[in-house]
Amino acid sequence: MADDLDILRNDTLAALAGAQDRVQWDAIRVGTLGKSGALTALLKQLGKLEPQERKERGQALNGLRDELTAAIEARGRDIEEEALQARLRSERVDVTMPAPAVVTGTIHPISRTIEEMTAIFGAMGFSVAEGPDIESQWHNFSALNTPEHHPARTEHDTFYLPPKNEGGEPRVLRTQTSGVQIRTMLGSQPPVRIIAPGRTYRADHDATHSPMFHQCEGLVVDRNITLGHLKGCLIEFLRVYFDKPNLPVRFRASYFPFTEPSMEVDIGWSKATGEIGAGSDWLEVLGSGMIHPRVLANCGLDPAEWQGFAFGMGIERLAMLKNGIPDLRSFYESDLRWLRHYGFSAFSPATLTEGV
Ligand code: DAH
Repeated sequence: MADDLDILRNDTLAALAGAQDRVQWDAIRVGTLGKSGALTALLKQLGKLEPQERKERGQALNGLRDELTAAIEARGRDIEEEALQARLRSERVDVTMPAPAVVTGTIHPISRTIEEMTAIFGAMGFSVAEGPDIESQWHNFSALNTPEHHPARTEHDTFYLPPKNEGGEPRVLRTQTSGVQIRTMLGSQPPVRIIAPGRTYRADHDATHSPMFHQCEGLVVDRNITLGHLKGCLIEFLRVYFDKPNLPVRFRASYFPFTEPSMEVDIGWSKATGEIGAGSDWLEVLGSGMIHPRVLANCGLDPAEWQGFAFGMGIERLAMLKNGIPDLRSFYESDLRWLRHYGFSAFSPATLTEGV
């Protein structure tokens, strides 16, 4: 009689050892210990035996049941562990592998340049402000100390729009981002430190002018702001942007209606080779100045208490100079070959610090 128990034990242990997965394991478990399992069937037969025989057989069967239960549980744990290890092996991801070389989109040089400017000025404590493309003539001109018949308005010939409502404000597609200076000073209390990148419009179209282009305005208002702050801030920006720690920067007296004094800012370059920071030529890159007291007053700020500086630069121009882009018009042609060549990977950070 004991032989049949040995056979059951050996068969079950052999089957368990051969079980490859949970399904096979479960079939063995149910086939042995389940309601209709082999061991359960033997236990059910106990009642038919004589008392002495039943006792011995019962002890043997209980012993076998404990042994097989333990063996089945142990094998179950092993199978789980093996499955987990197999999953870990198959699902392993090597994060250092290069991304598959699929053709993806690129960041447009204008967006990229705005990101770089934002990163550099952001590190200097500036935040980003916005204004509408359709601007009131008051914000675009009058509040910036450019009255109706001022000659500067002719230089900014643009697209005029009727007022929104009858008798309302005459509007214009903004010719410069400088109107955001006005909106910022009217909308918040100084100290103020903002840049305002965005679209601007003028009735111009040739290799170096487009009817729609981009500018980045800058504005700082605080107590005791001097020309020294303006110079330090812009020299720092230009050297970081062009990645040339010794880039020569020159401030040249100029005129803008909304600043006094006003200055054009030039950088050193070589006209012959186009190399920035080399040679002995100068290249104008932006306009700047100390905010005109009348502009501060137009925004309700007392010029005796508050001073500041402002600057404005052409985003395309700075993008062209840094990236060797020869023609302004190509920015807007959506030519995929151009975009792939001059575009930037979405994974390359705009500055080192941004990537950390
Ligand atoms: N808005 C000027 C332009 O479009 C550029 C400019 C010059 C902006 C001097 C400024 C500034 O804020 O101070 O030509």
